[in-house]
Amino acid sequence: MESALEHLDHYTARALLDWQVELGATDAIGDVPVDRYGLPDEAPWLAKSLPSASGQPGAAVAPTPKADPVEAARAAAKSAASLDTLRAAMEAYEHCDLKKGARKFVFSDGQPGSRVMIVGEAPGREEDREGRPFVGRAGQLLDRMLAAIGLSRAENVYITNVLPWRPPQNRDPKPDEIAMMKPFLERHVALAKPEMLVIMGNISCDAVLGRRGITRLRGTWTQGLNLPVLPMFHPAYLLRNPHLKREAWADLLELKAKLDGLT
Ligand code: URA
Repeated sequence: MESALEHLDHYTARALLDWQVELGATDAIGDVPVDRYGLPDEAPWLAKSLPSASGQPGAAVAPTPKADPVEAARAAAKSAASLDTLRAAMEAYEHCDLKKGARKFVFSDGQPGSRVMIVGEAPGREEDREGRPFVGRAGQLLDRMLAAIGLSRAENVYITNVLPWRPPQNRDPKPDEIAMMKPFLERHVALAKPEMLVIMGNISCDAVLGRRGITRLRGTWTQGLNLPVLPMFHPAYLLRNPHLKREAWADLLELKAKLDGLT
């Protein structure tokens, strides 16, 4: 094939080469581009140069099978005997890509051992900055809602999220991300020992109950993770739909009645 450079005069060709050197392209590597996506996954020299189990070079090295993220999470969660070790195990978990894009790991807030444990979805921008769940506008609304029935994270509520890392641009968590973090959530609930769960929004319904449909589910006690569970609208959803605060108030009264032993 003819080279494009063949048609250039010496001075133009020289100027083009100087320009490339200035850009940092100082080595001639090949005449045609290499499609690296089309190359085999394994470096061929690995098989040739690494010794086999018998110590002889030449035998192919079997690729290490990738650990199943859900299995890995189950094993890590199971081995956590306290909330502190669970926090450390989750922070060390490397299978969830959300970790790479998040600033901070967000574990929980409030009082472990409280009768009520709230499960939100995932940290947003403020939570990602501070490393605490529900500290942005939705969190402030949540605090006001809880205060209306005598609850506060300073005294008698424990709060966590399905996911401890912020999804990029606050996108919805993907099913595989929820599935891999679920064993940690289950262990979190077992170690925090609440009497009841309040789950906020569809992602939490998905993780705790295995189904979505918050408009139908909200306000009715159901069973999940071996506990009574009350699904409620997420406070961020209430900020966008203030006319639904009436339903949220009814749900809070449901929660209060349960705490008072009336239901
Ligand atoms: N929304 C959530 O679900 N959790 C947070 O921590 C913040 C916003």
